[in-house]
Amino acid sequence: MSFTNEKVVILDFGGQYSQLIARRVRDCNVFCEIKSYKTAAEEIQKAGYQGIIFSGGPNSVYEDNAPKCDPRIFDLDIPVLGICYGAQLMAYTLGGTVKSSQVREYGKTPVSFAPNTRLFAGLSPSSVCWMSHTDYISAVPEGFSITGYSEDCPVAAMENAQRNLYAFQFHPEVEHTVEGNKMLKNFLYQVCGCKGDWIMSSFVANTIERLRNMIGSRKVLCGLSGGVDSSVAAVLVHKAVGKQLTCIFVDHGLLRKNEGDEVEQIFREQFDMNLVRVDAKEQFLTKLAGITEPEDKRKIIGEEFIRVFEQEAKKIGHVDFLCQGTIYPDVVESGTGDAAVIKSHHNVGGLPEDIGFTDIIEPLRDLFKDEVRRVGLELGIPSFLVWRQPFPGPGLAVRVMGDITNEKLEILKDADAIFREEIAAAGLERSINQYFAVLTGIKSVGVMGDGRTYDNTIALRGVTTTDFMTADWARIPYEVLEKVSNRIINEVKNVNRVVYDITSKPPATIEWE
Ligand code: XMP
Repeated sequence: MSFTNEKVVILDFGGQYSQLIARRVRDCNVFCEIKSYKTAAEEIQKAGYQGIIFSGGPNSVYEDNAPKCDPRIFDLDIPVLGICYGAQLMAYTLGGTVKSSQVREYGKTPVSFAPNTRLFAGLSPSSVCWMSHTDYISAVPEGFSITGYSEDCPVAAMENAQRNLYAFQFHPEVEHTVEGNKMLKNFLYQVCGCKGDWIMSSFVANTIERLRNMIGSRKVLCGLSGGVDSSVAAVLVHKAVGKQLTCIFVDHGLLRKNEGDEVEQIFREQFDMNLVRVDAKEQFLTKLAGITEPEDKRKIIGEEFIRVFEQEAKKIGHVDFLCQGTIYPDVVESGTGDAAVIKSHHNVGGLPEDIGFTDIIEPLRDLFKDEVRRVGLELGIPSFLVWRQPFPGPGLAVRVMGDITNEKLEILKDADAIFREEIAAAGLERSINQYFAVLTGIKSVGVMGDGRTYDNTIALRGVTTTDFMTADWARIPYEVLEKVSNRIINEVKNVNRVVYDITSKPPATIEWE
C-alpha cells in the first residue's frame, strides 16, 4: 500500500531517534517507513525504495549481539545514509575501523565539512552538530573519503560518492544540528533523486480514491470516540463512501462536559454521517458502582464498551469492514527491532473479532500524529477537535478517585470545564500537552462566609511532554491558576479547596489512577 511514488526506508537499529528521523524525512515531503534492521536486501529492492537510512543504536559494532544489517544492502545501488551507530556499522562492514574512545563525545559540537560534496553543498563550511557517541570511526573503508571532522572526532562524516554511500557520526535529525534538515534534504533530493510528493492534500485525495475502490458498494463500521484519530479515519472513509459507513459512538457518560453533544453535532450535522450515539451512561455507572480499584475500573469499562459496541453492531446487520484509527507510532512501537515493546496500548476499544466483518481498514496507519492533524484540518474537521488533547479511554472514571457516582462526575466535569476554558483563554492550549482536573476523594475543612465547610478537594494537573512516557509539570502562570481556583470555588458546588500537582513523570504518572 503506497500513496506516493517515492519512498525511503529507515532501518531501525534500536536508536531513540528512529521516529524522529522519519518525521524529519516526511517534513521534506518524502514518504518513509521504519523497518527492522534485519530487513533483507531483496525485500528492500522489491519495495522500490529510493534511499535507505540507518538509524543510530545503543550498541557497539564489536559486541556479540550487535545488530547487523544484511551486507548485500550496500550492493543494491540504492543510496544509503548511516547515522551514528549506522555510520559505524557501514564503516565496519565495508572494511574501515571503529574504535572505542575513553570519553564520550556528547552535545553540541562544531563540525567542519567538505563543501564540495553533494550532502554539504550550500551549507556553511562549519556548523554545530549534535553528537552522542563513544565509539568512533578511526579509519574509513577503501573508496571512502572523510567529509567532516570535529575536534574529537576524526570522521564526523564520510562518503563514497561513486557508490552513493554516506555516513554521519552526528545526528542530523536532532534540532541542535543547525543545518541537519538541509543535509537530509540534500540526501533525499540530490542523492536519492526524490522530488517531494508526500503532501497532505495529495494523501487525502489518494486515500479517498483508494478507499472508494477498495470498499466498492460494501459496508463499513467505525467506532468513534471523539478523539483525533478515530474522527479523522471516519471522515476519510465517509468522504469515500458516504452513508455506506456507519459510526457507533458509545457515550459511557465518562466524557468531559458537553463532549458527547459536540461529537454528535460535528459528525451528524456538519458531516451528515450515519451516526449511532449510544447513551450507555446508566449501564456503565451501574457496572462501576462501588468499584474503587483503578485497574478494575479500566477492565469493567473496556469489557462493557465491547459489549455495547457489539450489541449496536448487531443491530446494523452485516458489515464488511471495520475502520480503525491506528496510527504509525502504534505500528512501529509494536516492535521493529529487538527492543522490547515500548508501550502497552491501554486504549478502550480493543474491538471484538466476531462481529462479522471481513476486513480492517486503517487509513491512518502510515501517519504520525502531526500528519493526522494536518489531514483532519484538510478534511474540514474543526480545529478544536483536531487539536484536542489526549483523553484516556476510561475517561473521567480514572479522574474520580475511588468509587464513581453521578454527583462526583458532575463536580469533576464542571471543575474540569473551567480549567480548560481558562487555559484556552490564556492561550496555553498548545503549550501544555495535557491538562485536567481530578476529584481527589479528599475532604478538607474550609471557611465560607461565616460558616465552616467540609468539602471536596479538586486537584489540577498540567503536563508538558513529547511522548507521554515521561512528562514534566507545566509551569502554568500563577494568575491563571488563581483565576481557575477562584472560579472553581465560586462556581462549582461542594468544592472548597483547589491544589496544583507539581510532580513529574516519573515518579508520578500523568493520570492519578
Ligand atoms: P499515564 O497516566 O500512564 O498516562 O502517565 C500516559 C498517557 O496515557 C493516557 N492514559 C490512558 N489512555 N486508556 C487510554 O486510552 C487508559 O486506560 C489510560 N491511562 C492513561 C493518559 O491520559 C496519558 O495521556
